[in-house]
Amino acid sequence: METRKLGQSDLEVSVLAFGAWAIDGWMWGGADANDAIKAIETAIDNGMTTIDTASVYGFGLSEELVGKAIRGKREKVQILTKFGMAWGSKDGDFFFASKDNSGNDINIYRHASKKKVLQDCDDSLRRLRIDYIDLFQIHWPDPLTPVSETMEALDILIGKGKVRAGGVCNYSLELMNEAEKVLSIASNQVPYSMVKRDIEKDIVPHCAHKNIGILAYSPLQRGLLSGRIKPGHKFNDGDTRPDTPYYKEPNLSNILQFLDDIRPLAENHNATLAQVVLNWTMQQPGITCALAGARNPAQVLENIGAVSFRLTDEEIKRIYTLLSDLNIDTKI
Ligand SMILES: NC(=O)c1ccc[n+]([C@@H]2O[C@H](COP(=O)([O-])OP(=O)(O)OC[C@H]3O[C@@H](n4cnc5c(N)ncnc54)[C@H](OP(=O)(O)O)[C@@H]3O)[C@@H](O)[C@H]2O)c1
Repeated sequence: METRKLGQSDLEVSVLAFGAWAIDGWMWGGADANDAIKAIETAIDNGMTTIDTASVYGFGLSEELVGKAIRGKREKVQILTKFGMAWGSKDGDFFFASKDNSGNDINIYRHASKKKVLQDCDDSLRRLRIDYIDLFQIHWPDPLTPVSETMEALDILIGKGKVRAGGVCNYSLELMNEAEKVLSIASNQVPYSMVKRDIEKDIVPHCAHKNIGILAYSPLQRGLLSGRIKPGHKFNDGDTRPDTPYYKEPNLSNILQFLDDIRPLAENHNATLAQVVLNWTMQQPGITCALAGARNPAQVLENIGAVSFRLTDEEIKRIYTLLSDLNIDTKI
């Protein structure tokens, strides 16, 4: 699989990376641990060597599953994880209330003080069973800690050899500018899909100008753009997708109509809708890598099929035209 250099770091990432959020089941209505490990193994064996996880995913479970799946393969993979979220204590800025996989209430806080970042790194290394992290990213901005303090902590970890490169997630342009005063950040990990393109106006040009990588998350809009989820779809308890605007009417029907309209493009390449969507994402200006979540080996293999063809310029233009006619209300 094609690899791309992540910003100014010396890290090479696969153009399609494995997103390890759904495999722990938290906010996704549960998951099967055996399928999860097989999915990661399938990804690595087929060239998708970059894996993105986070300390808070499944409250450590995702990192543990990744750690199991990469045993004996450490040098073949790039491990991206995230810090700065707290649970089980009231330290930090309250972010949102959630439930764990057993249905217990759990509050999530944002906390990226220097002490917490250093501790989070050791905790992630232990759960992942590795001795360095390729990319360590702040998960969400922490309004109570100066950006400079968090970046200084990352710099310390890089100096100690525990982390190869530091990155941010969900950072606005303003916060990126603050961070860059202290650290040469490798990347910003941000939401980006055919139906969510806000970053094109500011983050994409800024990153292109400064040679900072962009890791596009939820490129399938959490599965919706595969075309598999239809009105009336029965989600498992604890799956948060139906509460997001894209899964509500009239957005859902509008998006399904759009997917029907791009189906002929998929047929041109003997590809599935998910493959067309991922191929489009990887080809967008400024995007270093698309992070695609998958729960099992079949989904991984289908997603990897997205790298074996190339949408033509005409086809990409056609998609832009259809997208400009697509109405999505993100306030519902
Ligand atoms: N930094 C952040 O704040 C942040 C936020 C969100 C995500 N991320 C990262 O980005 C990664 C990817 O985003 P995401 O997992 O939210 O969404 P996504 O990649 O858009 O969608 C993943 C989901 O789509 C479904 N799917 C995947 N491949 C499919 C296929 N070929 N056919 C049909 N359905 C398929 C699966 O769910 P079902 O089978 O249940 O439908 C899968 O869990 C995450 O895993 C995480 O690493 C980061």
